[in-house]
Amino acid sequence: MAYSHASEVPQKLGKEVSLRGWVYRKRESGGIIFIIVRDRTGTIQASIKKDNVDAKTWKAAQDAIIESSVELKGSVKKDERAPSGYEIEGSVFKTISIGEPYPITEYQSTELLLDKRHLWLRSVKMTNIMKLRSYFFRYLRKFHDGKGFYEITPPLITRSAGETGADMFPIDYFGQEAFLTESSQQYAEAMIYSLEKVYTFAPSYRAEKSRTVKHLAEYWHLEMEAAHYNLDKLMKFEEEMVSYVAGQLVKNNEDELKQLNVDMESLKRIRAPFKRITYEQALEILNQKGKNLKWGDDFGVDEERLLTEEEEKPVFVMYWPRELKAFYQPINPKDERTTMSVDLQAPHGHGEIIGASERIWKYDELMQRFKEFEIAKNIKFNMANYEWYIDLRRYGSVPHAGYGLGTERLIKWMLNLDHIRDAIPFPRMINRVYP
Ligand code: 4AD
Repeated sequence: MAYSHASEVPQKLGKEVSLRGWVYRKRESGGIIFIIVRDRTGTIQASIKKDNVDAKTWKAAQDAIIESSVELKGSVKKDERAPSGYEIEGSVFKTISIGEPYPITEYQSTELLLDKRHLWLRSVKMTNIMKLRSYFFRYLRKFHDGKGFYEITPPLITRSAGETGADMFPIDYFGQEAFLTESSQQYAEAMIYSLEKVYTFAPSYRAEKSRTVKHLAEYWHLEMEAAHYNLDKLMKFEEEMVSYVAGQLVKNNEDELKQLNVDMESLKRIRAPFKRITYEQALEILNQKGKNLKWGDDFGVDEERLLTEEEEKPVFVMYWPRELKAFYQPINPKDERTTMSVDLQAPHGHGEIIGASERIWKYDELMQRFKEFEIAKNIKFNMANYEWYIDLRRYGSVPHAGYGLGTERLIKWMLNLDHIRDAIPFPRMINRVYP
């Protein structure tokens, strides 16, 4: 039997349709049971009239409760009183599973909704976000594929730190020390020597003790790496990518965006080129806004908010102090205090969404930066774990560059979500690893 979806029902006026879904709302009035059925496309009202159906169908409609899974058949009628203007006059109604009384009612605390995340994902809000999340992934892949990049799959268990290593989750790997990866960058770097332009879509793990609206302990990291790219080429690529995603959303997803009250006009304004400022200029802007920052200070949630709260488009912040950035970033020849790095800050104070840089590609330079980095951060790398990475500079090395985009940060910004946890189905945060 062919089943229709709720959104298709209005086009089938006067016809018979069959539908499967879940009970979203239900009420009984004068021998009629009105059931609003939800499926992945939305909702549609069904009416079951006692006088028109057999006793089995009437009993099934009576027994159904919120979130029962159901199947029905009936003819499509126009009805001004139904929420969509149409309803299915049911001739057959069956419950697939009645279920227990649904534990989520109208007003619930955030904590309860997180405890019952596996059920809360059925809400209209989360359904729309999760649909859009799938589109974000689709558009990001399409963009990179269209530019001739290969998608590669890195290991998530590693012995080398992608950044500082300070925030890695250790695991017992058959008695050996290993970690959940904090970035797949190094593995992407290894693959440019054969594939030249690559990207990975994989989780990164951060054991950061940050309780902010933009930190997850597990997030989906899109990392791109390309041979013969420099900072300027990277920035042009980034602004084109971000504009492409915003453009695709506007073009294809108006329905979901409107249901989430996303301002379409503000998405339409996200068009390359984006403003470029240096870290030093960012410091000046922040100090003019009342901060008291000095060279070498990093930006937290508050600084990031202040920096772009009046911006309509993302802003590139270039050339970060060498002590703030990772060991693989080359020194800026025009200002040795800084590296060839750039972060992309989302507008309206949403904060950093992309971290990017050129990579040190010469052996001596890399060894020197490793040492400098260890002293600056007061850490000791186990160099045996990095031999393979250093090898990449020994055999036919080339200049290259790449970036890492926090997918949930991009989603949070473009959908204007209050908290990053709603950009991912099952958030992992400092105080949450269930469900
Ligand atoms: O700036 P990060 O730490 O850079 C790297 O990991 C590089 N290896 C990336 C690269 O060049 N291949 O992280 C990159 C991005 C950030 O800009 C942010 O969007 C996101 O990853 N991110 C997080 N997202 C959610 N929760 C967290 N705890 C995040 N930490 C970083």
